[in-house]
Order: sequence, then C-alpha cells, then structure tokens
Amino acid sequence: MGERLSRRSLLVGVGAAGGAAAMFAAMGALGLAPVSHETRAFTPPRPGDFSLRGRGAARVVVIGAGVAGLTAAYELGKAGYDCVVLEAADRIGGRVLTLRGGDTLPELNGAAQTAKFGDGVYFNAGAARIATWMVTLDYCRELGVPIETFVNSNASAYVYTGDMRAPARTRTVRADMYGYIAELLAKATDAGALDRRLTKDDRERLLEFLSEFGDIGDTYDYRGSPRRGFDKPPGIEPGAPLPGPDPLSTVLSAGVGRAVTMDFGFEQAAPMFQPVGGMDAITRALAEAVGEHRIKLGTRVTRITGRADGVEVGYAGGTVTGDYCVATLPPHLMARIPHNLGTPVTDALRVPQPMSAGKLALEYGRRWWELDDHIYGGATETDLDITHIWYPSYGYHGQRGLVVGYYAVAEHADVYAALTHDERRRRALTQGKKIHGEKYRSDLLSSVSLEWRRQPHIEGAWMVWPSRGAPYDLLQRPAGRVYFAGDWLTRLIAWQAGAMESARKVVTELHQRVLAEPA
Ligand code: ALA
Repeated sequence: MGERLSRRSLLVGVGAAGGAAAMFAAMGALGLAPVSHETRAFTPPRPGDFSLRGRGAARVVVIGAGVAGLTAAYELGKAGYDCVVLEAADRIGGRVLTLRGGDTLPELNGAAQTAKFGDGVYFNAGAARIATWMVTLDYCRELGVPIETFVNSNASAYVYTGDMRAPARTRTVRADMYGYIAELLAKATDAGALDRRLTKDDRERLLEFLSEFGDIGDTYDYRGSPRRGFDKPPGIEPGAPLPGPDPLSTVLSAGVGRAVTMDFGFEQAAPMFQPVGGMDAITRALAEAVGEHRIKLGTRVTRITGRADGVEVGYAGGTVTGDYCVATLPPHLMARIPHNLGTPVTDALRVPQPMSAGKLALEYGRRWWELDDHIYGGATETDLDITHIWYPSYGYHGQRGLVVGYYAVAEHADVYAALTHDERRRRALTQGKKIHGEKYRSDLLSSVSLEWRRQPHIEGAWMVWPSRGAPYDLLQRPAGRVYFAGDWLTRLIAWQAGAMESARKVVTELHQRVLAEPA
C-alpha cells in the first residue's frame, strides 16, 4: 500500500530531462530564458551527391528492421544506396507492434497467443504516442501517414492509490493539489515569509497568480472549487458540486504525485499524436519505401566480420556482404553475436541494461468508459501494479473498444512477466475492478498480454544506461565499417524519434565517408 505515484519516472530512466526541459520552457514562457526553436538539421543523401563527385553509392547491410534500421535504409535509399535489411523476426517493426484480430504473438518460454479482436480494433503493444516536436511526425508527413490526436492526459479519467478511499477524477485531484499548494504559498507570501526573495511587486504578482492557480480567491483559503467537478453537472440548474475537499493532510497522504504531473514533461505534454489505424503505419510506410524485396525476414545474424574493404554478415543459411553495415539490434543481443570488432565493443554493448515493460489489451463489447464514465481517451493513474489504465483514442462511440489494462514497468512488469497469460489477465482484472467495478470483468471479450523481455529477438522494453560515458561515446563511432544505431544511442530512449535521430546521424556520417573515399 501507499507506493507513491512518483516512482515510475525514477525507475524508467527516460524523461529524466523532462523536468529540466519543462522548467526551462516555463522560464521561457515567463521571459526568463530563450525559447528554443531548434530544428533538426538533416540533409538526406541525394543521388546528385554522387554524380557531382563521380562516385557510386555503396552496398549497406542493415541489421534489424525496427525503426532505426528502416529509417537508415530509407534515407540511404534516397541516394541509391543498395541496402539489404536482415531481420531476425518474421515481422518488421521491432518494438513498434500493432496487433489486430488474427495476429499471433509469440513469447519466449511462454505460450503464443492469437488476438481475437473484432474489426477495427487494434492494440499498440509497443510505441503508442508521439509528441509534436518529435521527428516521428515529420516522417508521418513525408510518408503520407495520417495522424490523429492521442489523448495522453484526461481530467475525466481517474486517480486511484491504495491510500484513497475511492477513485477520484483526475480533475478533482488536481484541483485539490493546486488549491492547497496555492493556499500554503499564498499564506506564506502574505505573512512575509518570502520577503527575502520577493520585492513588494513580486509579492503582489505572485499572490495574484496563486489566487488564480489554486482558485483560492482573496482570502487564500482553499475550500474547493468548481474545477473539482460535479455529482450532478450544471445545465439549466447550477448542478450539485462534489462533496469535499478532504483536509490537506488527507489529500497529501493519498500520494498522487505522478497523476498530476505526468503531462508536465516535454515528452508527454498535450497534444500527442498517433497514426490512424495503428502505430505500425509508420514502419509499414518506411518498409514500402525501402522496398519489401530488400527486407529479409526470419534472418537471424550469427556473425559480423569487419574487413578492411567491407563487412561480411553471416546468418543461419547464408552470408551477405556489403561495403558497410548499420547494426541496430538491441545492444545486449548484439553483444552475444560473434564478431571481430574488438572486446571494447562487446564490453560497451553490455553496459546498457534492458528495462522490463509490459502491456495488457482488454477488448470489451461495450465502451462502458465512454457510456458510463464519460472518459474519451487518456489514462487512469494508480499505484497498483497495473500502474495505468489507458482508454482508446480512436473508435469513439463504436461498438467494441480496447482498453490497456496495464502498462507496467520495472518490477511491476516483472510481476506480470512471471505469470501465464490467464494469470496476468485475472490479476489485472482484480486490480482494475477496484476502479471500475464488476463490469471491468464481466464485459470483457478478449485479451492479449505482452512482456517485452519475453519477446524473441528483442528481450527488453528499452535500455537504461547506468551511466553513459566512454562506452556510449565508443558506440557513437563506427567500429571499422560497422555503425551502430538505435534509440538507446540517444537521449530519446524508448521513443521512435530516438531511433530515427540515431539513424539519421549514422546515415549522414556514412554518406560523408563514402563521398570522401578514394574513387
Ligand atoms: N515512450 C514510452 C512511453 O510513451 C516510454 O510510455
């Protein structure tokens, strides 16, 4: 009980910069710091680059048909590089995985599942949301992938911690936290406790802001606010406000930190987006642009041999050669593949550690979250091991719908990973019932659970660097003719944008090298 809703951000090792970035952006909004309008400088290789310099494009063996590998092959292909993409799995996409009815999902040391979802129902089991500033949206535009809003945070969703008597709407929890924070700060300011930091003008301006921030009027007492919501919403009549608020101490003891701050981060702020019809629209569009004939599925690499004039990549049943190689496998798996790139490379590949994460899809025959709860997208935040419940940002008012019954990370994911699919579902339903009641179990049609550590050829949700330092720097550079790329080689770990940025960097460096080579 009582594990605070603040742990995940500490554990996952992503978004750590979000706080500083968010603070910096807020300072910018206040005129205290420059607002960054940095654009991503990237010029794709062009066929003309060769005709001007009289060179030909090279042959490149790309290992991995996830976002990094496909982006690298796509960008190199623009200039006529002869790319071949070797993918160990029998599908493209890596951790971009959209499951639809009829799809089969394997699991290492576990049972395979076949999704039974109805028409139009899909499950983004991996990547699921895109921030507007990410290069991912540029690729959607370039490739003609239609996008729609992903509701990342929703005031109508719930917050539930084991220390709360009952789930509360996010709007209520926010109103109470902001209200009490504003009250405390306003009273301290008014009493002169901050006089060493504030001028008289600062004080007045701060008090004016706090009155607004917490809806605390000019007495600075937080006594609740219409922002908390209503038992009976206003219409012709004024409506019946929710009873409350609870006293400050009760509100604080609920430990709702993450629930009111999750969308403060640079990576998580509204609006966010998703491709219409499933996240795999991006990887499918990339693969189509690369050319399906260049992508060899079911081709697990068994050896990488760098030579002075090229690279030889062996797989069960054959060998391919190229002038260069772009290796985009998860580093801990790459470390297991025999190669002649040197022990420091293997050692560096072993530094980042795989993080556990898993999701459970729950398909319902009735969209009760819309019909009964008026929740359209967004997430309920909990301190239970399910961590979140996500409601779909598509198919509104349809017949069926798919809720993500858990999106668990780190030790919570490990709890679910150790269970069978049936046990995972049963456990998550017991947890979710605490928030949504019996219908959470009784209206269920089908389910699929996925633990990324148990996905063949992936074996982890994303990588965490205990510290970056020399190993990170080493792998930013090619080992001979072998380049490394992936989100794990950026500060955008666990985002497609990271994989894309890394691929672009490698493409740029490789292309410059080819152009500089003696003819
Ligand atoms: N990028 C991952 C997410 O959106 C971590 O949850």
